[in-house]
Amino acid sequence: MGNLNASVDLRRDGEIAVVTVDNPPVNALKHEVRAGLAEALRQTRADAAIKAVVIGCAGRTFFAGADITEFGKPPQAPGLAEVIAAIEAMPKPVVAALRGTALGGGFELALACHFRVAIAGARVGLPEVKLGLLPGAGGTQRLPRLIGPEKALKMIVTGDPIEAREALADGVIDEIVDGDLTEGAIAFARRVVSEKRPLRLVRDREDKLVAEGFADAAETLTRRLRGREAPAACVEAVRNAIVLPFDEGLKREGELFRQLVAGDQSKAQRHISFAEREAAKVPGIPEDTKPRPIATGAVIGAGTMGGGIAMCFANAGIPVTIVETGRDLLQKGLDRVAANYRATMARGGLAADEMDRRMALIRGVTELDAVGTADFVIEAVFEEMDLKKRVFADLDRMAKTGAVLATNTSTLDVDAIARATKRPQDVLGTHFFSPANVMRLLEIVRGAATAPDALATAVALGRRLSKVPVTVGVCYGFVGNRMLARRSVEAERLLLEGALPQEVDAAVTEFGFPMGPFAMADMAGLDVGWRIRKGRGGRNEIEDALCEAGHFGQKTGKGYFRYEVGSRTPLPDPEVERTIRDTSARLGVARRVITQEEILERMVYPMVNEGARILEEGIATRPGDIDVIWVYGYGWPVWRGGPMYYADRLGLVHIRDRLTLYAERSADESLRPATRLSQLAAQGRGFAS
Ligand SMILES: NC(=O)c1ccc[n+]([C@@H]2O[C@H](COP(=O)([O-])OP(=O)(O)OC[C@H]3O[C@@H](n4cnc5c(N)ncnc54)[C@H](O)[C@@H]3O)[C@@H](O)[C@H]2O)c1
Repeated sequence: MGNLNASVDLRRDGEIAVVTVDNPPVNALKHEVRAGLAEALRQTRADAAIKAVVIGCAGRTFFAGADITEFGKPPQAPGLAEVIAAIEAMPKPVVAALRGTALGGGFELALACHFRVAIAGARVGLPEVKLGLLPGAGGTQRLPRLIGPEKALKMIVTGDPIEAREALADGVIDEIVDGDLTEGAIAFARRVVSEKRPLRLVRDREDKLVAEGFADAAETLTRRLRGREAPAACVEAVRNAIVLPFDEGLKREGELFRQLVAGDQSKAQRHISFAEREAAKVPGIPEDTKPRPIATGAVIGAGTMGGGIAMCFANAGIPVTIVETGRDLLQKGLDRVAANYRATMARGGLAADEMDRRMALIRGVTELDAVGTADFVIEAVFEEMDLKKRVFADLDRMAKTGAVLATNTSTLDVDAIARATKRPQDVLGTHFFSPANVMRLLEIVRGAATAPDALATAVALGRRLSKVPVTVGVCYGFVGNRMLARRSVEAERLLLEGALPQEVDAAVTEFGFPMGPFAMADMAGLDVGWRIRKGRGGRNEIEDALCEAGHFGQKTGKGYFRYEVGSRTPLPDPEVERTIRDTSARLGVARRVITQEEILERMVYPMVNEGARILEEGIATRPGDIDVIWVYGYGWPVWRGGPMYYADRLGLVHIRDRLTLYAERSADESLRPATRLSQLAAQGRGFAS
């Protein structure tokens, strides 16, 4: 009894033993925790005066999973499987008391207990697939026995947790506790004892193990996950639950887990998860820098981005004021926000009262001085320097002292915008991606004068808005778009040299991007760039020819592809092929067959090269920051770990040599390997090592 070790406490409340684990911040199941749990189970089993055991955690959450720093290291006994076996061998009831998030190994431990109670708002889930893994402590065998294979597979393949209310309805938990969780769990355990409820382990239940509907569910859930090992292994493991005896299924689950954990895909996904956490550490900001408090926000401009950004505030429960130039534009913007919420509601993603609550947090005005109360102001007006400077000069007069003034510019010089104010230390960029309420990436642009606490405030706000914030420096296009521009140049060149849009897009989607560059261009619209080029000069031969023929992209039903009415599926267009061939002929470029391998190399390596320059210039802090940007902002397949990680895996010598070849062939000096890339290649090193 008492403290069994630094993380595990065992006490008695009458006949009930209460085991409490305290391993902040999320009660990960590290070795000391497992050892303490095993000892607690040993003592309580031996003590005849104890009639039932409650297992719970201190702090804000039940075990939120394994300790991922132990992955890939030799296992230290007792493993989670042994703790779970000790729970199942217990001749008296064991009750798991859930709060916060019971995830991964934590939820698997709870599944081995005889009973589970939770407070309202607790969530349970098996998110291992998000790290390229499957639940490796019996989750794939126990959950199907508890709620049926179909539902279990959905939870395991999506990795998304469910709320206590849904868990209760599905029979995952036995009771929702009002008031104090531990008290409630103890009371529940007493009732189990006094009512002499039978102790039925999940592993012994067979009644829900029906095969019907499973194959269809597996097909639907994995249709879009081609080439990914973890979801396929999840399907196999859950199918085993139906067809194999429990212990065999468990053994096979362990084998699959070990394969995945040693595989490239999971390593890449773990890299991204780690890089995401690293990205929150910004050089030059001391750890103890206090972010400024944010109670209210303001957004200038109710256009595409402004509306989406305002939704981010409202979704996070932060009141926000949108400022527009006129009543009609404001109303249009607010209507678009409401329509977005209604669409989410129609898909079942939002309750009606929740939509009302969020809309009520958004106030629209036409007078800029309303920003006077806001702690964080985000400007999202047209992409014009003079206009932005005017807006910031006005903000300088109207915003309160200490407010952070952010611009959502995609390309303009944040330092020049900051100089339009007398408080450049409070100015920075918050580069959201479209649709702003959906896309997770937030590039935070640090100006030359940005104060550390202003930057820390932007990072903290980004997290509150459920974004993945990555701090970058000032340059044209910042990190993501600057690299993307290299890909776009190469994509057009591929068309001129012999490829077709569908071939380029196929190489890129085969690689794992959700969309190829030309389908993406069609979605964004080709006319904007064309008009800019017409005004400023510069040509994009094929795209300009397409625009001149009225191919503006999806909105006109034709761009690089053609689209049937009401459909967004890109279809090859013979007219486009003719335009491409004519352009090649006009420019005297001999067309040739281009292999898919070459297409892919030319879609990826020039971006890696630009990434190297970005690192050289200090625009990005770490190669992992660039990887996070590409995964969260541009659909880079997470199981390939981001462009810089991918390059390291291929070897920089190979990338350098191929870039040299392509630079010579195209006479494009920008394709020459960057200094950083060449140096690292010469040293036999990678970007990250
Ligand atoms: N659209 C994207 O995909 C995207 C992505 C990232 C960043 N951005 C950047 O975000 C900014 C906004 O882009 P958008 O696509 O939302 O443009 P948009 O044209 O849809 O919206 C701009 C809005 O700002 C309003 N506005 C103009 N001047 C104003 C003023 N003085 N005060 C208040 N409102 C004013 C306009 O009436 C318009 O409603 C630009 O800087 C753009 O480069 C856009």
